[in-house]
Amino acid sequence: MDKIVVSGGHPLRGTVRINGAKNSAVALLPASILADSVVTIDGLPDISDVVTLNSILEEIGAKIIRDDNKTVHIDPSTITVKEIPNGKVKKLRASYYLMGAMLGKFKQATIGLPGGCYLGPRPIDQHIKGFEALGAKVTNENGSIKLYADELHGARIYLDVVSVGATINIMLAAVLANGRTTIENAAKEPEIIDVATLLTNMGAIIKGVGTDIIRIDGVDKLHGCTHTIIPDRIEAGTYAIAAAAQGKEVIIDNVIPEHLESLLAKLREMGVHIEQSDEQLLVKPGKRLKGVNIKTLVYPGFPTDLQQPFTTLLTKAVGKSVVTDTIYSGRLKHIDELRRMNANIKIEDGSAYIKGNSLLEGAIVRASDLRAGASLVIAGLMAKGISHITGVEYIERGYENMPEKLSKLGAHIKKERIKEEELIYYEHLNER
Ligand code: EPU
Repeated sequence: MDKIVVSGGHPLRGTVRINGAKNSAVALLPASILADSVVTIDGLPDISDVVTLNSILEEIGAKIIRDDNKTVHIDPSTITVKEIPNGKVKKLRASYYLMGAMLGKFKQATIGLPGGCYLGPRPIDQHIKGFEALGAKVTNENGSIKLYADELHGARIYLDVVSVGATINIMLAAVLANGRTTIENAAKEPEIIDVATLLTNMGAIIKGVGTDIIRIDGVDKLHGCTHTIIPDRIEAGTYAIAAAAQGKEVIIDNVIPEHLESLLAKLREMGVHIEQSDEQLLVKPGKRLKGVNIKTLVYPGFPTDLQQPFTTLLTKAVGKSVVTDTIYSGRLKHIDELRRMNANIKIEDGSAYIKGNSLLEGAIVRASDLRAGASLVIAGLMAKGISHITGVEYIERGYENMPEKLSKLGAHIKKERIKEEELIYYEHLNER
C-alpha cells in the first residue's frame, strides 16, 4: 500500500503537460474489438485502468504490441468469444464497453458486472435497454451479464437518462447492426465524439455526434486505423484548479480550452486570471478568490468529475459557496476528509455548503475514489503542514504520475510505501 505525502504551502510555477483522455481511452480500447485488422491507438495515458483493459483484451485473444506506454497496436482478428469473468472487470467501470463491443462483433458476450469508483448508485439499465432494442436478449446470471442476439437490427432508442456510457455502448453495438439506429437524448461529451471519430475511421457511418440525436447506419465490417486520443479535459481541469489554489503562474499544455468552458467561467467568476490559446491555458490566481455556487450537469455543464477538486478550492474563497452534484448523489465522500483538514463544510439536503476563507491544515486522509483523491492532493498542496493521503490506487486509475507532475511545478510531494508497522494504523483509518 502506498501513500502520497505532501508538505503544503509551496507555490506552483511552470508548465504541466496533459495526457490523452482516460474516459476516451477506456472506450477506444474495447472499440478496437470491432475491427478486423490492426487498430493503433496513440496518446494513451499511462494509468491503471488502461493497463487493466489491455490485459483483458489480451486474455480474450487480442495481440497487442506496445511501442511504449502511450502507443498500442491492437490486432483484434485473433479474439474469440470467451466468458470475461468478474476479476479484472470489477476493477473499472468502463469494462461495460466490452459488452457493446463483443455484442456488436460476435452477437454474444458474457461479462462480469462492472466495478469502478463508488459514487452512489450507478445503474446500467439504459445500456441494457439499448442492447435489447437492437435485438439482444440480456440476462443477469450469477453476477455476469449474458448478451445474445441471432442478429442485431437498427432501432430507435430514447435514453431516459442522458448517459455517457449508454450512448457509447449503444454506438459500439450498433455500428455492425443491420439498418439504422437512432439514439435520442444522447450524451454530448467530447469523449463520445472521440469514440465516434475512431469508429468512423474504421469505416462506420455515424452522424450527429455532439448533438442529442445520433444516427448510425450499420455496415458489414470495420477495418483497422490509427487514432490519436483527445487531451484529458478532467486532468487539465484538475491542474487548472490546483493552479488557482496554489499557483503563481501555471501553463497547462495540450488542452482543448473549449472542452472546459464551464470550469473556466467559474474560475473567472471567482477572480482567477486565465488566458487561453489553441492548446494551452495560463492560470494565475487573483489576490482574493470569491465564493461561487456550482451545480454539476451533463456536458457542456459543469462536470461532476471536477466537482470534488473544485470543492477544495472553494474552502479558500472568501464568502459562502454551495456545491450540488446532480449526476452522482454519493460523490461527497471527500467532504469528511476535507473537514479533518479544517475545512468548514456542512452537507444539507445533498448539497455541500462551504464557508470559505479556511486555512487548511495537514492531516492523514483517505481518498475514497479517483476524484476525491485529486481533491485531497490539492488540499494537501494548500494546507499548512504535512498531509498523508491513502487510497493512492484510486488516484492512479486516472492520473498519470500526479506526484511527479506536481513536483515539477514546485510542489513538495512524493509517493511512499506505507511501512509494515504503519499498516494496521492506516487500515484502521480505512474503516472510519
Ligand atoms: N445512469 C442511469 N442508468 C444508466 C446509466 C447511467 O441511471 O443506464 C445515471 C447514472 O447513475 C448517473 C447518470 O446517469 O447518475 C450519468 O451517468 P453516465 O452513464 O453518464 O456515467 P458513466 O458513463 O458511468 C462516465 C465517466 C464518469 C463520469 C460520468 C459523467 C467513464 C468511464 N466514466 O461515467 O467518470 O463521471 O460519465 O460524466 O467514462 C471519472 O472519470 O472519475 C468518472 C467517474
